[in-house]
Amino acid sequence: MLQWIYHRNDQDPHRLFDTGYRFFRCCHRKARRRTEYIRGLAFECLDLTREPLPEGPFDVILSIDSIYFLGDFTNTIRQMQSRLAQSGSLILSAFQVKGEEDPEDSLLPENTWVAEALKSIGLPYLWFDFTENVQRHGLLNYAIAEKLKEDFYREGNGFLYEARAAENVYFKKAAEAQTIVRYLYNTQT
Ligand SMILES: C[S@@+](CC[C@H](N)C(=O)[O-])C[C@H]1O[C@@H](n2cnc3c(N)ncnc32)[C@H](O)[C@@H]1O
Repeated sequence: MLQWIYHRNDQDPHRLFDTGYRFFRCCHRKARRRTEYIRGLAFECLDLTREPLPEGPFDVILSIDSIYFLGDFTNTIRQMQSRLAQSGSLILSAFQVKGEEDPEDSLLPENTWVAEALKSIGLPYLWFDFTENVQRHGLLNYAIAEKLKEDFYREGNGFLYEARAAENVYFKKAAEAQTIVRYLYNTQT
């Protein structure tokens, strides 16, 4: 994603911060290698439930599938917004699955947890719908893992298959029932 933003904007995203890669230093190493050509890009390892974001200001703060791990993420979003440069951009992408008790309209783009958090802070945003992608991903992930199951075991990597099996079934069911959505929210400063 960093690479995509860099190429798309044709500029240095020199104050860009990705909220992922918390504990996994091997991910940092990989990300560093893949983005070596981007001048001025720094990686930091933080636990955002306990540590504040660096001061910034940042041109872009990008959070993909990380927000769910942060507890009361309304506060985190507020903090992210406060670290943006003037006309900086906060990009949040998250999926949401409808629980049995959830209202029928809970998956509408204006009603998700992220949308509710943004509204409660008073942040205007644009949303983009990636639901078709997340549903296709859910079905393909399951199908391919099942197809490769025997190969995983033959290679002595059955644990990899097992580790993902429950998750794959969960997402496949949600995709089939169309009870999963994915939106990307881009705040406007
Ligand atoms: C599903 S991964 C998404 C990673 C990456 N953004 C992507 O799209 O591939 C969730 C990420 O959230 C990060 N994460 C989980 N808890 C966190 C925390 N307390 N503080 C910061 N990052 C956290 C994990 O390290 C992981 O990189």
